[in-house]
Amino acid sequence: MASGMIPRDFIDDLLTRVDIIDVINARVPLKKKGREYTACCPFHNEKTPSFTVSPNKQFYHCFGCGVHGSAISFLMEYEHLEFVESIETLADSLGISVPREKGGNTPSKEQQKRVKDLFTLMEEANDFYQVQLKASKPAIDYLQGRELSGEISKQFNIGFAPEGWTNLSQAMAKNYSQQQLIDSGLLIHNDEDPKNIKTYDRYRNRIMFPIRNRKGQVIGFGGRVLGDDVPKYINSPETTLFHKGSELYGLYEARKFTKKLERIVVVEGYLDVIALAQFGVSYAVATLGTATTSSHIKQLFRAVPEVIFCFDGDRAGREAAWRALNNALPEIQDGKEIRFLFLPDGEDPDTQIRKVGKEAFEKSFVDDALSLTDYFVDSLHQQNNISSSEGKARFHDDAIQYLKNIPDTFIKDQLVTRLSSLIGVSTPAFLKGADQKKSTHHTETNLPRIGNREVRHTPIRYAISLLLSNPELVKFVENIEPIALSHLPGSDLLTTLIEAIQENPNTNAAVLMQRWQGTQYETPLIQLMQWQPETDDIEILANEFKDCINYIHKRTSEQKVESLIHKERTEGLSEQEQQELVFLLQQS
Ligand code: UTP
Ligand code: MN
Repeated sequence: MASGMIPRDFIDDLLTRVDIIDVINARVPLKKKGREYTACCPFHNEKTPSFTVSPNKQFYHCFGCGVHGSAISFLMEYEHLEFVESIETLADSLGISVPREKGGNTPSKEQQKRVKDLFTLMEEANDFYQVQLKASKPAIDYLQGRELSGEISKQFNIGFAPEGWTNLSQAMAKNYSQQQLIDSGLLIHNDEDPKNIKTYDRYRNRIMFPIRNRKGQVIGFGGRVLGDDVPKYINSPETTLFHKGSELYGLYEARKFTKKLERIVVVEGYLDVIALAQFGVSYAVATLGTATTSSHIKQLFRAVPEVIFCFDGDRAGREAAWRALNNALPEIQDGKEIRFLFLPDGEDPDTQIRKVGKEAFEKSFVDDALSLTDYFVDSLHQQNNISSSEGKARFHDDAIQYLKNIPDTFIKDQLVTRLSSLIGVSTPAFLKGADQKKSTHHTETNLPRIGNREVRHTPIRYAISLLLSNPELVKFVENIEPIALSHLPGSDLLTTLIEAIQENPNTNAAVLMQRWQGTQYETPLIQLMQWQPETDDIEILANEFKDCINYIHKRTSEQKVESLIHKERTEGLSEQEQQELVFLLQQS
């Protein structure tokens, strides 16, 4: 397993060398339609194709559900790969290997071997616990008491750590050193008292739940007491393999046991995941005693378009839901759905599914679960009494703070509409304060939108669109300065785009998108990429591009003239400025 960063130039280069048409066509057969290729979208259900792939831009986009991206993101979404795996797959298809940047983070051969050994160690421990379960009547009784079937226990590889301080360490001593066992988190090394250093098994007399990564490798364990002792659960500590805040228990199993994974239910506990699976809801995962983090949500969205958070109906559940919502805001995407389901008081998914069964449980996703928009608006409403003007102002202030964290999406627009109508103001009035509070990074919010809304093409936007489909037009930019200085909306993006293309003339839209993913440029670029020139004729396009650039030059000099005239009237001009003004006026 090579580590270390993949050089950005390599990724850029890869995206100019692979052909996205081949990559997608091998997985989803494409039909040529005009200059583009189309298919029924593989990421949502549809009968007429709205998934289009552009060979020019090396980019795909679905007009139905809004997914879009480069060959790299296609593989991530379609084959559920991680970023690096997706790059490796593409590189493989070209028969090249992926270079890694050398540096502090590159693990040595020896370190790599240590990690590999750690994985084997965990797998062997997992085997050990499972064997122990078969031999322990109290453990089997406990599982039966919880009405877990033998079959489901096997599918989730449930095990048992027997009573005693050294069972595991003794069993593993033949193949592994004490240090390895400590590194794995399975052996505790207590050196508080230097005269009496102790090591002992972390898990004793506990039901063991192996936690697997997305490849199915065991990276940690959760251990539950048989009775009512505390702590009820012990989770693996942070180790080289295990990072609690980013792991989801049951994701590997959900993929394995669900034919076509289309949605995921997020629950709180190990036994919730397993009970749901036993009753046929095989697509549940649990966070590991932590709040849902944005890293969790990223992983979930990579796996499925629909995520349902399932919380207890009590106060703790409500608080956990609000935390989850907050961490979800920056991850909001059009085409991805988040819902919140609150169970009746006193129930958790484990008890609920046993009570109502699969069908009713799944029906509640539709009947009872709140959409993210509903839940957000309702909660904010409950937190603020909006019957007075002061209350409305507080509500508005709060809302704006949360909205800041949401990427510009159709979902966000809907939220704004709902929030503003709730306090009886127009959407622009609602957003007015927000724009002032926003940093200059967000000057692009009013760009044309995906969907049926009107697209207004200013020359700057038009120039950006043209460059995205035909980067070679950059050669008509002789002087970038007037563009950079123009202060027209979007000029910073156009400037950045021109510089990026000048730096790497072979580039294409997908490379640029990949590079700017997650930055303030992502949304405007996506929007401008939707636009298709009416002709292929590069000469016509070149002329239109030149027109745009000329217009920008003209606007810049007009602005300069205006500001010089203003200065002349107020402070007066220096000699040089006077000359400049005369020159500019003559020119125009
Ligand atoms: P709960 O206390 O709600 O338990 O913890 P549960 O899942 O219903 O457990 P059972 O049904 O009594 O067996 C929910 C989750 O919180 C984490 C665990 O991941 C657990 O599954 N947790 C809970 C801990 O990490 N440590 C604890 O001591 C308790
Ligand atoms: Mn429970």
